[in-house]
This record gives sequence, structure tokens and C-alpha cells, in this order.
Amino acid sequence: MVRIAPSLLACRFAELGSEVRAVDRAGAEWIHVDVMDGHFVPNITIGPLIAEAVRGVTERTVDVHLMIADPDRYVADFARAGADVITVHAEAAGHLHRTLGLIRGLGAKAGVALNPATPLSAVDEVVDRIDLLLIMSVNPGFGGQAFIPEAVDKVARARSLIESRRPGEVALQVDGGVDAETAPALVAAGATVLVAGSAVFGHPGGAAAGVQAIRSAVAGTSWSGARH
Ligand code: DX5
Ligand code: ZN
Repeated sequence: MVRIAPSLLACRFAELGSEVRAVDRAGAEWIHVDVMDGHFVPNITIGPLIAEAVRGVTERTVDVHLMIADPDRYVADFARAGADVITVHAEAAGHLHRTLGLIRGLGAKAGVALNPATPLSAVDEVVDRIDLLLIMSVNPGFGGQAFIPEAVDKVARARSLIESRRPGEVALQVDGGVDAETAPALVAAGATVLVAGSAVFGHPGGAAAGVQAIRSAVAGTSWSGARH
């Protein structure tokens, strides 16, 4: 089953509560919260207070994507804020194995994100300690960037890795430039969670229409390696 995770980065922040409720009502399973610190990535966005505010208006999975240096310093704050999933970048965590244990120890699901230039082998030694693998299909830092097509093959290889080591246990997420055009190939390659910012909140018909457009685009598509 494919889950859609609207990225709040593209929402109208002054209307945060109603934006979250709109995608919740539209059936988006996850709410993606992008945290940027001005160090790991050039941009600065939001922190645990806003994650907690999001938690307060939805029962959906609150999915926190930490694009921050030294994530160990903040994972407890985001767990306390009510995050269900906390994802850190392999490039930012000096001791990734420990960070993942820390996240799970706080009762959250642990994710690892890989930048476009980071090989899949960066997660090889920690596959047993993750609940989610995030393949970035843009260089993190900003919404609205063009999709990097090489991500499709990386997703396919990530799916093979998961199938061989932890079948059915690791969500495979893609983030960056995901829309109704790019989504089907990602799902066919084995993605299970699609993050979309601009394509949802920038949809001319509104956020609910944005969720629906992606949903319709992937309806009938499934992982091409699936055993039937
Ligand atoms: C990028 C963020 C993404 C971003 C996606 O650094 O991690 O979640 O909001 O935005 P779109 O879908 O517009 O590429
Ligand atoms: Zn993100």
C-alpha cells in the first residue's frame, strides 16, 4: 500500500492547523515535517514547537525529517513533541548506529535519509535498526526543486536491499519533486511512502486535490518485483 505524506514546507504556515486538517481529511496517511537548521542545509525552517502543534491537530502519522547537524541533540525533543517517525541523515549523524538506537529507545520509529550523492551502502550496517529508508530525489534544503531521475533506480536497489534483509519491515520513502508525473515510476520501483510538498499544497485545486491527483496517478501501480 502506498502512503502519501504531504510536506508542510509548502503549506501556508499562517494557516497551519487548517492546512494539516485539509490533507488529513483528504486521506493523506502521513504528515511530513521538514526541520532544517541552516548548517546541514542552507535553509532554516521549524522546530519541535511546531511539530507539537501539528501533533495536536491530527491523528495521522507525524513524520519528522531532520535535516540538521548533530541530530542526537534534538531527537528527544521531537519524540516529546509527538513525532511517530524521526528520520536523520546518514551524512549528518556521526554515530548513526547510536542515533537510531536513541530514536527507538524514545518510542519512535527510526528512519535514515540518504542524499542523492550518498550510496545505498551507507545503510548496510544499520538495516536491522531502521523502520524507514528515505531516498532523497533532490538535494535537501528547499521545496519545489526538480526531481532527480536517477532516484528511481536507487529506489529499486533500496527495495532489493530491504527485500533481502528485512522484508515487509522497512518503509521506503522518497522525497523531492514527487508529483503525479514522477510518482508512478517510484511506486513501480518499490517506494511505499511518497512525500510531496509543492504538488500537494501548490495544486491549483487545493491541497485535497493535490493528494487526490497523486493517489489517482499511482492507483493500479505496484512494485514491479512483487510476487503475485
Ligand atoms: C526538501 C524537503 C522536502 C520538500 C519537498 O529538502 O525535505 O520534503 O519539502 O518539496 P517538493 O515536493 O516541493 O519537492
Ligand atoms: Zn522532507
